[in-house]
Amino acid sequence: MEEQERPTHMPRGPAKRTGPGFLNPAMAPARTRSVMLLADALEHEWLVKEQRPIRALDALCATGVRIRRWRNEIPAELQHRLRITANDLDEFALAWAQTSHEQHPPEQPVEHEPEDDRHGQTSTAVFDNGVHFQRLDARMAMVGAAYQWVDLDPFGSPIQFLDAALQSLSRTGVVEVTATDTAALTGSSPSSQARRYQAKGLVDAYAHDDAVRLLIATVATTAARLDKVVTPLLALFDGHHVRISLLVRTSKSEATAIRKSIGWRVRCKDVPYRFVQHPSPEDLPNASGPLWIGPMWHSDIAGRMTEERALEMCHPTAGDIELARSQGLTWDEEDIEHSAREVRRSVRHIAAAADLMSREHLLLNLDTLPRLAGVGGAPKMEKLIAALIEAGHAAARYPDLEPMLVTDAPFETVVQIVQNARESSD
Ligand SMILES: C[S@@+](CC[C@H](N)C(=O)[O-])C[C@H]1O[C@@H](n2cnc3c(N)ncnc32)[C@H](O)[C@@H]1O
Repeated sequence: MEEQERPTHMPRGPAKRTGPGFLNPAMAPARTRSVMLLADALEHEWLVKEQRPIRALDALCATGVRIRRWRNEIPAELQHRLRITANDLDEFALAWAQTSHEQHPPEQPVEHEPEDDRHGQTSTAVFDNGVHFQRLDARMAMVGAAYQWVDLDPFGSPIQFLDAALQSLSRTGVVEVTATDTAALTGSSPSSQARRYQAKGLVDAYAHDDAVRLLIATVATTAARLDKVVTPLLALFDGHHVRISLLVRTSKSEATAIRKSIGWRVRCKDVPYRFVQHPSPEDLPNASGPLWIGPMWHSDIAGRMTEERALEMCHPTAGDIELARSQGLTWDEEDIEHSAREVRRSVRHIAAAADLMSREHLLLNLDTLPRLAGVGGAPKMEKLIAALIEAGHAAARYPDLEPMLVTDAPFETVVQIVQNARESSD
């Protein structure tokens, strides 16, 4: 794109909003996971059964990178079951999306009708090589038709779109939500956090995890008001944004029970934290919440998000690169290697941590362990994980820029292992 510079290696921060056709290269890993999750839903039939199609809407598609990746990277044998609508209010961005899609069409043509308008009006969508493009306010697009998959990737907070997205979903659906208002979600901007999310934060080693849990709790309570219950599939703090993927089902009784999964994280003296339903007045200064305190990921689904699968699905083959080069791509060998590294990084540590993240676990920052264990230094992450597994527990690295680990071992056991490791290295 002419408005934006070519990304440097490993872009991580928010991109500058340089023109109407917005594309943030730091979101590439989130798009890779989105491709994999949607492919997994089609392949393993956990969203629709008997080879039925999935109707997917990218409600704020901008230049259409995500929808084009859905169409181009999800395996060919699943494509005929995928119906895609791309929506954005910005004329320039949408025209860009359409032109790119026309100039680089998917390998196999996919035909499908536009989604039925719930209010009986004729759809304004333009069908183009397997994608419906439409220019509507996202909220109109979402209340106007029923989808099984809705992606919300706004600038800043997703709050204004949540209600419509949840109403748009069929009885069973998936909503994927990005939030870049991390100052509000972590609590580093307490007034925005209180106003937007009705929560209180503590900016410490758990601020990122709290931000993810706060966004899940917000979607879960919004869903409960509509008699819907959420099951988190994957939820991450990724550098400068929070991204959550939730299965949403209509169920009054389960929506009522969602209160049990909302609580507070209290920092304690004997352990780094405990989740409680309601903090006591004495606990309140050391507590953040209300947050989601239930499972964060789906064990099987996140467990299939391996580096091998990511490369297989999302990294171009030698033939793809040759073809793209013949059309003007200027990648050299270093670019190809960099791209493969980035694809692997998008899912690194996810599969190994999936089981623990789907049940009760303890999350620890390696850098805080020496202070908590009263020793001079922490063992290496790999050694600590190996020692915890040797002691009969589960342990894994958690995907974060900080050195975080998850385990089901009691905190005293972790402290003991850190102390023993220190003694044996002295
Ligand atoms: C962060 S960008 C989306 C990026 C895109 N999903 C991607 O992966 O590259 C946000 C987009 O939302 C669009 N937008 C903002 N408000 C909107 C609204 N009310 N309805 C539809 N689109 C809107 C903007 O035009 C912009 O393209």
